[in-house]
Parts: sequence; C-alpha cells; structure tokens
Amino acid sequence: MIERAGAAALPLLRRLDAETAHRLTIGALALVPASALPAPAADDPRLAVEAFGLRFPNPVGLAAGFDKNAEAVDALLSLGFGFVEAGTATPLPQPGNPRPRLFRLPKDEAVINRFGFNGEGAARVRARLAARSRTARGVVGVNIGANKDAADRAADYARGVEELAAFADYLTVNVSSPNTPGLRDLQQADALDDLLARVLEARAHVAGRKPVLLKIAPDLSLSELDAIVACARRREVDGLIVSNTTLSRPAALRERELAREAGGLSGRPLFDLSTRMLAQAFLRAEGAFPLVGAGGIDGPERAFAKIEAGASLVQLYSALVFKGPGLPRRIVRGLSRILDERGLARIEGAVGSRAQDFAEGKAHGL
Ligand code: FNR
Repeated sequence: MIERAGAAALPLLRRLDAETAHRLTIGALALVPASALPAPAADDPRLAVEAFGLRFPNPVGLAAGFDKNAEAVDALLSLGFGFVEAGTATPLPQPGNPRPRLFRLPKDEAVINRFGFNGEGAARVRARLAARSRTARGVVGVNIGANKDAADRAADYARGVEELAAFADYLTVNVSSPNTPGLRDLQQADALDDLLARVLEARAHVAGRKPVLLKIAPDLSLSELDAIVACARRREVDGLIVSNTTLSRPAALRERELAREAGGLSGRPLFDLSTRMLAQAFLRAEGAFPLVGAGGIDGPERAFAKIEAGASLVQLYSALVFKGPGLPRRIVRGLSRILDERGLARIEGAVGSRAQDFAEGKAHGL
C-alpha cells in the first residue's frame, strides 16, 4: 500500500524542491498508524545476518539522514528494510544550515546535501522511539552527532549514548558528516581514541551494552584508514560503517553546475570510492568486527558487490529518491536470485569474497 502510493507520488515529488519533497514524504509516512502497517513479509532465511549480537532479517538497511528525528521508523521498516538507522541526532535541537541545502543531480542519480545536522534533538528522538509499540519489530539503530557550537564535542556523543542507548538496538558514532565544520577532524587518531574512550565509558554506565558502530568518510588516505581501524580494534568497537558522503566531485559527473554546490555527494557516483574504502577497511579489520557498506547502492547487483567487498550489511539512501519506495524489496528479492545463480547457501558466505579485487579498485563499471 505505502509502496504503491509512494510510487504514484514520485513524479509529483520530483517537481518540488528536494527538501520540501522529503519533508512531505516523511510527514506522510509518519501519519500511517502502526496498526495499519502490513506485517513485514517473511524474508528468505538465507538472507538473515547475525552481526554485533543482533539478528537482521535481511542485510538491506536505510542509511542515516532519511529519518533524522525517528518520525517514521516503522513505516520505513515496512518497505522491506532489514533495519533502519534514525538520526543523526544531536543533544540539543538545532536548525542546520540555511536553505537551499539539498540538491538532486538527476542525470547522475546523485544528491548533494549540506544540511548540517538540522534536527529536533535527542530528547524528541528518544520520546518517539519510546512511544513505539512494544510489538514493533525490526532493528532500529540511532546515529549520534555533536551540536555545531558544542564546546566539548566528545561530551555530546557521550550524552547521545546516555540518552538514546535504551531505545536503540545499536548506536552509530558519526564522525564523518562534512557539513559541521571540524567534525571530520574527530577521525584523527588522537581525537578518535579519546572520543571512543568517552563513548564507551558512557555506554558502560547504561544498561544493555548496546553495540557501538563508527561511521567514517570515504575521503580518507589509506594511512588515515590504518590508524582508524587500529583504534577501532583497540577500543573494541562493534562495527564500522563505510561510508558517509564525499566532498570529492568525480570527473564523470554530468550535472556540472549542480556539482559546484558545497556539501556531501552521495548516490551512484559514490559507489567506486566508497566500495574501495570498504574493501580496504575489511582487509584491515581481519574479522575483528563486521562492516556495513553504504554508498551508491541502487539495485541488487551493487548491494551484492558491497557484500563481496566486505560488508556484512548494507545501507542506502540516495537511490530511494530516484527509484522510489519499492527499491528495498526489489533489492532483497534480487539478492535471493543472486544466491540461486551462484549456488550460495547463505548471503553471509559471500562477505569479503572479493575484497582484494575491490580494494585494488578493480570493480568499476557495476
Ligand atoms: C545523508 N547521510 C547522513 N549520514 C549520517 O551519518 N548522518 C546524517 O544525518 C546524514 N544525512 C544525510 C542526508 C542526506 C540528504 C543524504 C543524501 C545523506 C549519508 C547517508 O547516510 C549515506 O552514508 C550516504 O548517503 C551514502 O549512501 P547513498 O546515499 O549513496 O546510498
């Protein structure tokens, strides 16, 4: 029902400015009462994934940023996602950057955003998650960040853990948004080590030892990646998400004018860069924790390629804008078909099977 209505609305939404279209989409999804949502169809058991102590019915997730304030997580799960990541949530509400701050690049099937963590703040997110029906199913993570003018950014992340851990299945420490000046500096070895120490210390004070994931940028040098993975391993982080949006502008972009807008680029043109970084991270992690692959997934082939590059789970955002709400289910069905074609018993058997190729950048053209 939601998928059909959403597909019908897509041409209209495309004529609106991008942020208004997104606001309408979330508003409409949030209106659907949980009792009216279809029970999620049982997933192909071969697609189930165990990671960070959680069981995911399928590996296809919605990436952070789509439902920043956790207004519609159950409606989004009902589209067939195996998990949904709400946020980024900051401790205090903040308006973000001035509009316009979201741009579609239709010929490239890409998006540029410079939202800058606009959001209603952690207390509202917490209240919404707490109000979910106790019978609601599906894995819901919450992505946390720092307020723009926080004097002590690490303290903001620690506060995010304290406020949200009880209502999230996992938490993601986002140090890779390009739209809060200086935030990405938290990926530097010393700053990251201090940040993770404080986040994990905060977790130790809340019940339930929720998994903590770290989300990184695709614009890192390999030596920076060495230091990040080493730090994540030393601190025993539960997982790594690779990647957030890129500040780079690949030469092949066709929308030259729009490509000059400041902000993070996502969607199809991000695939090569983020998949190479994912594979490089997988090789460095040596099985210490699972990886989540994001960047440019728009169909089952690219989702499967991320898994071969080293992802146990995948996430997408931008392709939903271009392909509509039927996409997650199409990807999930496509993954089953790929398992049939390859004679694989379980999707987990494919994780990292081509990491070396992808790490060398050999998998272009998908
Ligand atoms: C994002 N993304 C993002 N990530 C994050 O950790 N916190 C956030 O608040 C946001 N906000 C956001 C807004 C918009 C409009 C977009 C398009 C993206 C990044 C997102 O989660 C994902 O990592 C990248 O977009 C790459 O995936 P896709 O879009 O290429 O599938």
